[in-house]
Amino acid sequence: DTGFITLDSGFMNTGSCESRITYLDGENGVLRYRGYDIVELAENCLFVEVAYLLLTGELPTYEELDTFKYDMGKFALIHEDMIHFFDHFPPHASPMSILSTMVGSLHDFYPEMDREEDPYGGITTTTARLVSKIRTIAAFSYKKNMGHPLVYPRADLSYGANFLNMMFDRPNMPYKIEPVLVAALNKLLILHADHEQNCSTSTVRLVGSAGVGLYPSISAGINALWGSLHGGANVAVIRMLESILADGRDFEKYISMAKDPDNPYRLTGFGHRVYRTYDPRAEITKKICHDVLGSLEIEDPLLDIAMELEQRVSEDEYFQERNLYPNVDFYSGIIYRAMGIPTNMFTVMFALGRLPGWIAHWQEMNSDKDSSRIGRPRQVYQGIVNRPFIPLEARG
Ligand code: SDX
Repeated sequence: DTGFITLDSGFMNTGSCESRITYLDGENGVLRYRGYDIVELAENCLFVEVAYLLLTGELPTYEELDTFKYDMGKFALIHEDMIHFFDHFPPHASPMSILSTMVGSLHDFYPEMDREEDPYGGITTTTARLVSKIRTIAAFSYKKNMGHPLVYPRADLSYGANFLNMMFDRPNMPYKIEPVLVAALNKLLILHADHEQNCSTSTVRLVGSAGVGLYPSISAGINALWGSLHGGANVAVIRMLESILADGRDFEKYISMAKDPDNPYRLTGFGHRVYRTYDPRAEITKKICHDVLGSLEIEDPLLDIAMELEQRVSEDEYFQERNLYPNVDFYSGIIYRAMGIPTNMFTVMFALGRLPGWIAHWQEMNSDKDSSRIGRPRQVYQGIVNRPFIPLEARG
């Protein structure tokens, strides 16, 4: 009933159902990148380590990680001509539209053919450049949105610390880098790094299957992620929690709306197309919430609201019958708030995390035997099959 005719060589006829990148068991809430469990990766790795894993299929050795970290620093700047783009976006342009525009235009500033002759472990200049530069573009888009001077990446800072510093450091208000926030950012980016062939990843694969280069294909994925049912859900969760708080914690009002068959309202941050149990990423983000707010002694009423809403939903038959549990977006926004990241940057944060997964899928699709075949979803035609033509004068 998906509306597609599944073809023998897989959905969309590009072998897009086959992949070696991420394993998802929706019934049991299992998520593994290249065979490694998400819980262990989030607990033990840096984001750049997991990005390397997704791009190459293997966790890096010390030396490989050092090389990749060096490249993250080497490629952190964007072309100075690109910075003038920011002067021409409307004053409050959405950071997501800035991100997709700037990433797509990397194609013109760093032509695809600029590939490493002998990529180390499957990583090329093209891919390492993108993983590093998207972070700078994201931070610069925030600075422009705020009307603050740009803060350039520093050689002495890690991937996550550089991002937070580029976001929040100011000449008159130096930013104090909190290790607990850098650690939380690493975990959040790891949790978002890939998720099988979801809407935005399928977009990257489909666009790429037409022979489109990496940067424009990723730009298409950024736009797909923007939707409130997908990557935009983390913003909608905060809006929902703020409304419940503003309504005097009237949880039942929102739960009743979500259960009303005549009302399209949904409790955003709950449910998932694949998970029929608790999203393993939600478990981890809930724990990060407590770690970050606890260690920084931040009181955020939205965390209490979120936990009570989760409790009430877990006790409600309507949601249990439909296997509706918190997903990755339910708690992540509360952590971004604790970092000082505004809601208009939440989906940008999702894109920063998801980038290595998108790249890995684009590379896999291009390397597969089917890569010569353009993606071509089929349909179940439900229109009028055939009828005789009626000349204009005879149409009454
Ligand atoms: C992400 O695909 C991925 O992997 C995505 C993602 C990733 O990492 O890439 O995990 C990231 O997008 C997470 C999801 C973020 N979106 C939201 O939180 C938006 C709120 N969630 C829903 O809109 C919904 O759960 C979806 C879109 C996530 C999934 O929708 P499905 O699988 O199409 O569910 P459905 O529409 O078939 O619903 C089944 C039933 C329906 O009720 P009945 O028609 O059976 O009576 O469950 C109900 C729905 O009305 N339902 C909800 C609900 N989600 C589904 N009811 C209330 N609140 C909800 N959130």
